[in-house]
Amino acid sequence: MTAPSPSPFLSAQALQKTYRVRSGIFGASQTLHAVSGVDFDVPAGTTFGLVGESGSGKSTLARLLLAAEPATAGTLHIDGAPLSLGNARERKAFHRLVQPVLQDPYASLNPMMRIGEIVAEPMRVHGLYRGKALHARVASLLTAVGLMPELADRYPNQLSGGQRQRVAIARALGLSPRALVLDEPVSALDVSIQAQILNLLKEIQRAQALTYVLISHDLAVVAYMSDQIGVLYLGEFMEVGPRDEVLRHAAHPYTRALIAASETRVDTAAGGGAPAEIPSPVALPAGCRYQARCSHATARCRAEKPLLRAIGTGHRVACHIDLPLTIPAQHEVHP
Ligand SMILES: Nc1ncnc2c1ncn2[C@@H]1O[C@H](COP(=O)(O)OP(=O)(O)O)[C@@H](O)[C@H]1O
Ligand SMILES: [Mg+2]
Repeated sequence: MTAPSPSPFLSAQALQKTYRVRSGIFGASQTLHAVSGVDFDVPAGTTFGLVGESGSGKSTLARLLLAAEPATAGTLHIDGAPLSLGNARERKAFHRLVQPVLQDPYASLNPMMRIGEIVAEPMRVHGLYRGKALHARVASLLTAVGLMPELADRYPNQLSGGQRQRVAIARALGLSPRALVLDEPVSALDVSIQAQILNLLKEIQRAQALTYVLISHDLAVVAYMSDQIGVLYLGEFMEVGPRDEVLRHAAHPYTRALIAASETRVDTAAGGGAPAEIPSPVALPAGCRYQARCSHATARCRAEKPLLRAIGTGHRVACHIDLPLTIPAQHEVHP
């Protein structure tokens, strides 16, 4: 008998975000499609990895998941309940459940504040601890992320990049959240430090049964961390499914291009070897959004938009072409 699948802690239905943009001062206002109808479920305690090159909508999706911006359309469910942010109390309750860890610890940590105060601030705002208890809580959070509690008196510029990202993680954990949204959490760090931070995140996830949405342009990072992978291109999932399914039986030409680029260690932020730049999300083509890059594209791909279709358990692909599943089994992606 198979275990019942755990109910999702986080679930997105048809999430969409558009922006009104203007080309030049006198240009007509146009619609930019940053995220277009994204669906996924993240079971509690698991990691959903989002991969895609720069401009594919990853950070926009992160902001929607963090309720930092309202979605244009679609819904989010947190712990089984539809997200409602009608008033300050609801917003506060939401922020206790879902916390961000962002790419650049230089930018996300206030340079004028001491580390201890940076970590304490969200707890202070939420009135969770005060006085000696707050002090002790900060020390235990710093210890949990592998930092000496004495660092509480330092300023961000006195720490290394890796230490700063540990501080950002400690700050995020202060409210005892159930989920973290991690947007490029190691992209600003040296490769040698990246694995340390990723392993710390894994350790913390295991200890606290946290749910992660982890975003990276680097497939190796997503592959190392994730239970499920969603491959985003121009605001849409090209492919989504369990990690091994997506890596070993990649069915979308874009996923295959990312895998190939990851093996040759081409930086996928720059397009990962696939020809041409990412097209503008303002002037989207009819049909498949990936067609300009795709060596398999047919007339059908230019005319008719491929919808996500199931090709395995939880494995969905948005492609008209049935590519032969020839990816060899020894295909492994390492960070
Ligand atoms: N506030 C905004 N106003 C207008 N366009 C935006 C805004 N935020 C993001 N975009 C556009 O949305 C698209 C997706 O951006 P983003 O979510 O930052 O992608 P990624 O994180 O994958 O690089 C890009 O074309 C970007 O220029
Ligand atoms: Mg981004």
